[in-house]
Amino acid sequence: MGHPLGHPLRLGVLASGRGSNLQSILDAVASGRLAAQVRVVVSDQADAEALVRARRAGVPAVAVSTDGLRTRLEAATEAEVVRVLRAHEVELVVLAGFMRVLHAPLLEAFPDAIINIHPSLLPAFPGLDAQRQALEHGVKITGCTVHFVDAGVDQGPIIGQRPVPIVDGDTRDSLADRILIEEHHLLVEVLDHFAAGRVRRAGRRVRIAPPAAALDRELEPR
Ligand code: GRF
Repeated sequence: MGHPLGHPLRLGVLASGRGSNLQSILDAVASGRLAAQVRVVVSDQADAEALVRARRAGVPAVAVSTDGLRTRLEAATEAEVVRVLRAHEVELVVLAGFMRVLHAPLLEAFPDAIINIHPSLLPAFPGLDAQRQALEHGVKITGCTVHFVDAGVDQGPIIGQRPVPIVDGDTRDSLADRILIEEHHLLVEVLDHFAAGRVRRAGRRVRIAPPAAALDRELEPR
């Protein structure tokens, strides 16, 4: 995706719960701040609020079965998710509070085209309840990260980060609330970079290329 797309970026969002990050994408699209379309929302939880938010925005919402597994999807279910995403011509998959680790069917179907939002400054505090981990560790600054997804847990190349200071008296929830505000901004900002074709990955290092106008200025004779 290293070029301006010439069409709204076609997104598929995977979410397990509340869906506030999904909502920030839907709002940015609706207000014209983000040149993207959410083509489909998929959840592993049939009662996820994220599915309600999708339907309210007129976006197809699909719940997939989980067969009693807790941390991953059955291979057949992952293959079903791939079919759904392809049927909606998704170009970039966004994990927005999706609580399962992905495996080959999805990873291989969307190489370099799956991103995740995580509520810490990775590589610190991967995995569950990153906000509590940060508080208990006693760090003074935490934040949020958007990264490419690979087979590890919160391990893939980092695309963008925002810091959030921890203040006296913070609880897990007060901290999570402040991080969430930054998540919503960061996710839309990163998606805007993808929509403009500015994201370049070289190994683990991800660079955001300057906007075309800035490049033109750089190339102009002085
Ligand atoms: C967010 O904190 C996200 O970083 C984490 O799960 C939470 C999901 O929140 N992966 P929401 O469902 O987007 O409101």
